[in-house]
Amino acid sequence: MGWIAVCQIDDVQEDEPKAVDVGETKIGIFKIENQIYAIENVCPHAYALLSEGFVEGETVECPLHEAVFNVTTGALESGPGCRDLCTYPVKVDGASILIQAQ
Ligand code: FES
Repeated sequence: MGWIAVCQIDDVQEDEPKAVDVGETKIGIFKIENQIYAIENVCPHAYALLSEGFVEGETVECPLHEAVFNVTTGALESGPGCRDLCTYPVKVDGASILIQAQ
């Protein structure tokens, strides 16, 4: 599985994640304490983009029904999120963010 460049490092701020599409897959790129994380961007509960949610510490709160997920692990921490999120390997190459997604 190869690495895919999805955005630039400057596109992602701690309080402003970036939504990207890799094929049919919607992925949220988050920056937490200067580390970049890639998680599944569509909340498994219904349909809301987590990149439009509320980021606090290592967590993001779904904008629709307030499920809270840990961005660094994908784990559902509270609320009606149904399950943990998929996470994707990330690397930074120069100014580019690359991820591995199937
Ligand atoms: S759509 Fe995210 S908690 Fe309902």
